[in-house]
Amino acid sequence: MRLTFNKKIIAVVSIVVIIAIILIVNSIVRNDQAKDANNNATVADNTQQKTGDVEGEAINAIIESTIEPEPSPTDKVNDKEVVEPSVEKDIPSLHEVYSEYFPIGAAIEPFQTAGLKADLLKKHVNWLVAENAMKPVSLQPTEGNFNWTQADQLVEFAKANNMEVRFHTLVWHTQVGDWFFKDVEGNLMVDETDDGKREANKELLLERLGTHVRTIVSRYSDDIKSWDVVNEVIEPGDPDGMRASEWYQITGTEFIETAFRVAREAGGPDIKLYINDYGTDDIVKRDRLYELVKEMLDKDVPIDGVGHQTHISIEWPPVGSIIESMEKFAELGLDNLVTELDMSLYAWNDRSDFGEDIPTHIVQKQADRYAELFEAFKEHKDIIGGVVFWGMADDHTWLSTFPITRTEAPFLFDKQLHAKPAFWAIVDPFTRE
Ligand code: GLA
Repeated sequence: MRLTFNKKIIAVVSIVVIIAIILIVNSIVRNDQAKDANNNATVADNTQQKTGDVEGEAINAIIESTIEPEPSPTDKVNDKEVVEPSVEKDIPSLHEVYSEYFPIGAAIEPFQTAGLKADLLKKHVNWLVAENAMKPVSLQPTEGNFNWTQADQLVEFAKANNMEVRFHTLVWHTQVGDWFFKDVEGNLMVDETDDGKREANKELLLERLGTHVRTIVSRYSDDIKSWDVVNEVIEPGDPDGMRASEWYQITGTEFIETAFRVAREAGGPDIKLYINDYGTDDIVKRDRLYELVKEMLDKDVPIDGVGHQTHISIEWPPVGSIIESMEKFAELGLDNLVTELDMSLYAWNDRSDFGEDIPTHIVQKQADRYAELFEAFKEHKDIIGGVVFWGMADDHTWLSTFPITRTEAPFLFDKQLHAKPAFWAIVDPFTRE
């Protein structure tokens, strides 16, 4: 009996000890969990602060890159190791950095509205332009047959992501259906020699143009406020400095007047209408464009601004000449937009090819020039309504096949969508005013 009693006591004591041990262990585990939760909350707080604070984000990115042995942006450009494309989350958003200056845009194809490319756009730009989807031949390939699918897709993507779309382009001498320029018998209008028929052809072409412009502007004027109305109508190499396109040969400058007037009628006073061209920094071309614009304004043609394409290279033109041109048009009360910015690695006449190994000093030269350019843009923000890149990352640029097929890298992001030295050159928080 006594032995049984002792055994009972031992059993009870053992159970009490076991329970005590379980309670102690449990309390230690819970304490750790509480600490974890606390740490997570702090991380979340920091993340929130980062999203609201661009400089904080940049500084954080710099700190993180010192802690982690990640390759630097410079290394990434020339890195032959396979680096997977990704969208860097902890770098500043380009359009947020520039929010006090002007919107930042990119020209894209519809396929870029999905996946990583879309994520890169969503992070860095607040304007979108159709690289091709809104050109005349895309929207009205044959008379009366409008094709809205791709244009609508871009507009929807922009709306869903709080971006503005700017329209490019209602009129151009290329990427336009041949049908515009054929007479009722199917002959080329430019070949007509009879004066009476030439006049009838002109009326027909202007009527077709009016329909094209009215139909498109009416469809999108609620969603699109900034419009390239005519593109590349100046050509200093042609006899009177006006590009001798079919538009010009058949109508003189009336196609320009008609396009602007119909756009205004269809879109109302709230849309802004631009005349767009490349090489606007060149004094001869700039002055011919100025003369045309002045003549149009004197006739009350509703032009609101000049689009400066700004396809430049790391060599040319001087930043000062780009700004001087903008100042000249601003004197006419016009807005200026940078509409198609990219920066080739090669001088205009250079046909060489760096291949996959772009020299580091070239990458740096590009960064320095981007820094100079954007410093000048910021200084002149009062005469610049927006800056649009003709692309987003080096994986997709018209320059890789023009003027020859070769390696090109004209943007701020490399083929893996990672920020290049050029990005940091225009975003570095320590150089911000
Ligand atoms: C011009 C046009 C753009 C585009 C580029 C190159 O600048 O305005 O639409 O076609 O050429 O692709």
